[in-house]
Amino acid sequence: MTVWAIANQKGGVGKTTTVVSLASHLALKGHSTLLLDMDPHGSLTTYFEFDPDNIEHSIYTLFQHSEQQPLNAIFKTLKKTTQENIYLLPAATAMATLDRQLGIQSGKGLVIQKTLLQLKDRFEYVLIDCPPMLGVLMVNALAACDELLIPVQTEFLALKGLERMLHTLHLINHSRQHKLPYLIVPTMFDRRTRAGTQTLRKLQQDYEDNLWSDAIPVDTQFRDASKAGIPLPALNPESRGSMAYERLMKKLTKVPATKSDKHV
Ligand SMILES: Nc1ncnc2c1ncn2[C@@H]1O[C@H](COP(=O)(O)OP(=O)(O)OP(=O)(O)O)[C@@H](O)[C@H]1O
Ligand SMILES: [Mg+2]
Repeated sequence: MTVWAIANQKGGVGKTTTVVSLASHLALKGHSTLLLDMDPHGSLTTYFEFDPDNIEHSIYTLFQHSEQQPLNAIFKTLKKTTQENIYLLPAATAMATLDRQLGIQSGKGLVIQKTLLQLKDRFEYVLIDCPPMLGVLMVNALAACDELLIPVQTEFLALKGLERMLHTLHLINHSRQHKLPYLIVPTMFDRRTRAGTQTLRKLQQDYEDNLWSDAIPVDTQFRDASKAGIPLPALNPESRGSMAYERLMKKLTKVPATKSDKHV
């Protein structure tokens, strides 16, 4: 089982879109894929047409009963989605209260790691959608993953958010046995704008070693796909956005690039 966390402390940079689109490509290749919605806003949960305001079993329940998590409690939480091979552990709005409830209790940083341990023979890939703030949910995600993906919108303000995220990673690495590998993924790239090309150049200058050498382009079809509740690669595999996420999926799963893998 391979676990990726998708995080950035800046909001609206394409985290949830990255989770949905990468998962869709993995699932289309036949990989059983699990998604975790760790954001109390529940955008990922809503994407697949579940209601985070009104859900009986969710990641919130897993935190409440974290001492004893029999597999059947986890299976009650697990939802099938609109796409074959993609399963979801949904969010509940109540997760917003977890920081206040658990703040001082130790051992609450490994709830997700322990949950995934019980599912390790069931799923090949796990993608964790993180909230845009540091707290017990983000700490759990970073403790449980093998690699961190940081989507960064290609505009100037986004660079501050990236710095903040890398600072968090630095803090987290102190309590991990091995440093967490990470990859910066430029998103919503528009080559026609100066902000787009200049931000991409700045990323290349400052973060070359950890930067994906490609970018996810702006594509209005992402909004259409989210309205339909279907991942874009399943809805329109030939769209620019879908094809870019396919290249990212190949990079992450170490499939060699082919001549048809044209960069943006
Ligand atoms: N490459 C793209 N081109 C065009 N629109 C995009 C692209 N990626 C994401 N979007 C749109 O931008 C909005 C924000 O994206 P998304 O929800 O994925 O960001 P997020 O980082 O998860 O946000 P939050 O921090 O609020 O959870 C959504 O409406 C989404 O459809
Ligand atoms: Mg999101």
